[in-house]
Amino acid sequence: MKKSLILAWILVLGKAMAMAPPHGYYSKTKPYVPAPQKLTHLHFFLHDTLSGQNPSAVIVARPNMTTASVPFGEVIVVDDPLTVGPNITSEVIGNAQGLWVSTGRDVLTLMVYLDFGFMKGQFNGSSISMFSRNPITETERELAVGGGRGKFRMAKGFAQLKTYFRNSTLRNSIVEYKVTVIHY
Ligand SMILES: *[C@@H]1O[C@H](CO)[C@@H](O)[C@H](O)[C@H]1NC(C)=O
Ligand SMILES: *[C@@H]1O[C@H](CO)[C@@H](O)[C@H](O)[C@H]1NC(C)=O
Ligand SMILES: *[C@@H]1O[C@H](CO)[C@@H](O)[C@H](O)[C@H]1NC(C)=O
Ligand SMILES: *[C@@H]1O[C@H](CO)[C@@H](O)[C@H](O)[C@H]1NC(C)=O
Repeated sequence: MKKSLILAWILVLGKAMAMAPPHGYYSKTKPYVPAPQKLTHLHFFLHDTLSGQNPSAVIVARPNMTTASVPFGEVIVVDDPLTVGPNITSEVIGNAQGLWVSTGRDVLTLMVYLDFGFMKGQFNGSSISMFSRNPITETERELAVGGGRGKFRMAKGFAQLKTYFRNSTLRNSIVEYKVTVIHY
């Protein structure tokens, strides 16, 4: 019963998306009928490595300022592995791709523009988008989940972060993510 309802919804949603707009670039506006939503919890570790032979994060731009105490204005491109356990040798279940942007003038803050893509289990091929400030000097912090792809379509939620390991000289870190996400 519940399964067929969800299936019917997927069909409706699929049809609505595939339908060509009748008047140029827009469709007729209709009342929005909410679909049944699901709740999923995710738990994984992100490995961010700026140093060494094979970094997963690279600095692509920084301002020409030598006086600042924080790397304000720095832009870092990342492709960080996500693992089930804290050790990099544990199972890799996906990666986070996008940007960190150092946006704090006084306190180190790395704005997050990241897509967390999964490649194992039922969420293989699906991803969630995070767009949030990230005060990385606080051991525990929270990021906003603003959207998703595939099985995480229309995702909304939040991620609770806890630094598991950080070497601020080498700029390497392992961060635990506990994500709560509502999606279709
Ligand atoms: C950086 O700024 C200094 C001081 O203003 C200047 O001498 C130097 O040429 C600048 N370097 C670059 C790469 O723009
Ligand atoms: C990760 O696992 C490897 C191999 O099992 C082990 O040698 C290493 O000490 C572990 N590292 C940490 C930080 O637990
Ligand atoms: C994940 O999906 C890709 C593309 O559909 C497929 O090639 C791969 O085998 C899948 N991996 C797992 C672990 O299911
Ligand atoms: C960070 O790495 C450097 C270089 O390997 C090392 O000397 C230092 O002890 C490390 N610091 C921490 C907190 O692990």
